[in-house]
Amino acid sequence: MTLILDGRETAKEVRREVKEGVAAFRGRHGRPPGLAVILVGEDPASRIYTRNKARAAAKCGMFDVLHRLPDTTGESEILELISALNADPRIDGILVQLPLPAAVDARRILAAVDPAKDADGFHPLNLGRLVLGEEGPTPCTPLGILTLLDRYEIDLEGMEAVVLGRSNIVGKPMATLLTARNATVTVCHSRTRDLGFHTRRADLVVSAMGRPERITGDMVKEGVVAVDVGINRLPDGTLVGDFHFESVAPKARAVTPVPGGVGPMTIATLLANVLRLAGYRVRSSE
Ligand code: GUN
Repeated sequence: MTLILDGRETAKEVRREVKEGVAAFRGRHGRPPGLAVILVGEDPASRIYTRNKARAAAKCGMFDVLHRLPDTTGESEILELISALNADPRIDGILVQLPLPAAVDARRILAAVDPAKDADGFHPLNLGRLVLGEEGPTPCTPLGILTLLDRYEIDLEGMEAVVLGRSNIVGKPMATLLTARNATVTVCHSRTRDLGFHTRRADLVVSAMGRPERITGDMVKEGVVAVDVGINRLPDGTLVGDFHFESVAPKARAVTPVPGGVGPMTIATLLANVLRLAGYRVRSSE
C-alpha cells in the first residue's frame, strides 16, 4: 500500500501548534508575532500565494501586513519599505515574494532584509548558516518537506536522495538539509544528461523542476519516496506535479499529492519560522 503524505492534514497540525505558540507569546509579551509580506507586481500565482500567506498568519493570531506594490516600483522604494519594516517593532518576519520584476535586483533586495527578521531564510547570512549547519531561519519549502517526512517517520539516514532542480529557494537548501540528515544526495538540473539514470537508483526523489508529469513510473524504483514540489497547470486547467502520479504512485512507498502535498507545508512552515524569529527577537532584547 502506498502511503499518501497528506500535506493538508500535517500543515493543519503545524498551524495548530503555531497558533498555541502565538497565544503563549502574546500572553507573555503583550503583542502577537508579526509578519510583513511584500508583493511587487501582478503575477497571478504570486498574488494568490501572498494573500494565502497573510491570511494564514492572521488565522493563527499573528499581526500581518501585506504590501502590494505595482511592478513599476523602483528598487529604492522597495529598499525604503524594507528598511521601515526592519525598524518596526511589531514586525518579526519579513517576506519578499519571488520572483521580483526583472528590473529589480533581487539579490540586493533579499540582502536588505534584517537577517533576524528573514522569514524565508533567503538572506545570504542565513543561507550561509544553513550550509554551516548553524541555527537560523530555513527556507520554508525544503524545511516543510523535512517536517512532512518526519511526521510520517520516514528515516532519511543513509538514503540515496535525488533532488531535481537547483534553485536557491528549493533545490540547493533541500540538498543541504538532506545531507545534514545523512542522506547521500545527488542534485540534477536542466543540463543533467540522463535524468532517469539518477532517479531510478534513488530511495527518495524530491522534484522541483516545474515540468508537468516529467517523472514517469518507469523512471523510479519500487519503494521510492516521491516528493513533488511542482505545481503545473495543464492547458485544460488541471493541476499536476512533476511526477506522473498514476504511474509513480503504485510503485512508491510514499508520495505527496498535488495539490495537497508540499504546498500547504510551505505556508505552515513560514508561520513556524515567524514564531521562532519572534521568540529569538524578544530574547535577544531582554
Ligand atoms: N516564490 C516561490 N516560492 C517562494 C517562497 O517560498 N518564498 C518567497 N518569498 N517567494 C517564493
